[in-house]
Parts: sequence; C-alpha cells; structure tokens
Amino acid sequence: MLILDGKKVSEHLKNQLKTRVEDFKKQYGTPPLLKVIIVGQDKASQVYVKNKHLACEKVGMKSEILELPASLTEEQLIQEIDKLNKDPRVDGILVQLPVPKTISTEAIFKSINSEKDADGITFFSTGLLWSGVDHVFPCTPSGVIKILKYYNIPIKGQRATVIGRSQIVGKPMAAMLLNENATVTIAHSGTADLQEITKGSDIVVVAAGKPNFFGAEYFSEKSVVVDVGIHGTGSGKLCGDVNFAEVNGKVSAITPVPGGVGPMTIACLLENTLDLALKRKRQS
Ligand code: GUN
Repeated sequence: MLILDGKKVSEHLKNQLKTRVEDFKKQYGTPPLLKVIIVGQDKASQVYVKNKHLACEKVGMKSEILELPASLTEEQLIQEIDKLNKDPRVDGILVQLPVPKTISTEAIFKSINSEKDADGITFFSTGLLWSGVDHVFPCTPSGVIKILKYYNIPIKGQRATVIGRSQIVGKPMAAMLLNENATVTIAHSGTADLQEITKGSDIVVVAAGKPNFFGAEYFSEKSVVVDVGIHGTGSGKLCGDVNFAEVNGKVSAITPVPGGVGPMTIACLLENTLDLALKRKRQS
C-alpha cells in the first residue's frame, strides 16, 4: 500500500514557488501580498491563519492578517473586503471560514473580486472551474489533484467518487476530477448504497466531516483513498474521516492525517496568490 505523502509533495511545490517568488521580486520589486481576514476568535481558525502566514513568509511572499471582532456585521465585512479589492498592494484576499452565523458565506463569495480570489471560491471563479477555463481554484481540491499527479495515479477514465458537496471542497473537487476526464460521482449524506458506490470506485475522495467514520467496508484493495477530513481526537492527536488503522494495508493508496491533504492546501494557496499577482501585473 502506498502512503500518499502530502507533506513531501507540498515541500516540493513550495521549493518551486520559492524560485518563482524570487523571479517575481526581481521583476516587480515587491513580493506578492496575501491579505487574510479572520472574523471572531475561533481557535482552530486562528491556528490555520497563523500557519498560512508562516508559509507565505517561508516562500518569500508577504501576508497580512486582518483580525476583526465577532460582532462585525455583514455590511462591515463587505466594506473591508471592498477596501482590499481596491487596494493595489493586495494580490490575494482570503476570508477564513467559518465566519460567525450573522454573516452569510454567500455574501463573501459575491464580494471578493475574482482577480484577487486566492481561495477560488467566488461565484465567478466557480463558473470558470465548471466551464473548464483556466483560473485559480479552491486550494484543497487543487492539492488533491497535485498529490494524485505527483504519484502518477491515473485519473483519466477512472471512476472517482467524492463524498461531500461543500462549496469549498466537494463540488470543486468533482469539477476538477471531471476536468481531468474521470467519471465522477458526487455522494453526500442523502446517498443510498454508498458502500456499493465507493467499493466500485477507483478513487474515493472523502470530505464528509465525520471523524474516523469510513472503515475498510467502504473500499476495495484497488481503491485510492484521499482523506480530506481533519479532526481533533481530544487526546491532542488528529484524525481524518477515514479510519486509517482499520483501512491500513487494505487499499492500494491512502493519504494520512495529518500529513496528507492538509499541507497541500496551504501550498496551493501560496501558488494561487502568486498566479493572481502575476496575472494582475501582466494586465497592468
Ligand atoms: N476554512 C477551512 N478551510 C478553508 C479554506 O480552504 N479556505 C477558507 N477561506 N477557509 C477555510
């Protein structure tokens, strides 16, 4: 069984980005700037945002974090986003999710200028993705495709199932697999006979948000399993949606948690920010 080592693949990608960022700085004088907005005090989000900031610095890019209070209204957040849309220094904008319930994610997806959409989550970016037009796309599914390609896992013509239909992972994951010519099934909490579907799939991307839920009965010895889940176990350890200990050795390849998809998400965010910065510079 092959362990799909996302940490290794992300280091490889970050090394390439470092060189590209150096070239960018030589040509344009300043590094790309990512602006991250965090609303409220969610502990996990604070850790993610800090990791994104550190990763930017490691490849030579700049990132600034805008911390806003949980009492912020939707209108105020949109005003802040709009300032960043208009700020010529800013190349990429990311609003860390989840945001407090008083703010709709739809409003966020609508208000970020797609030319600065580092997450690839605006409605415009989503339209480009489903139209098969090149743009920047959501970081987690982009990372999954890069891991599969790094390990030369065939996608074209393969049966791929995505469990989960979120705007930021499940749906774009399905679109990206489709753009790679896989035959794609999107499964979700209402799907009947899920085990039958996943067992008959060559690639299964699990983004269901259910800790340790998917055991060996969901897969075959030929399955390539990509686990997008990441959950605290209470004992300070992390686990995915897939019960790794049970599935271990019973599938052909699997991403571990931690060290699988997670590191790729951040690397793809850096790549998106650099790609957006280059596009804007070339247009101006
Ligand atoms: N929260 C968890 N994952 C993500 C992500 O990829 N982007 C944003 N903006 N928020 C998240």
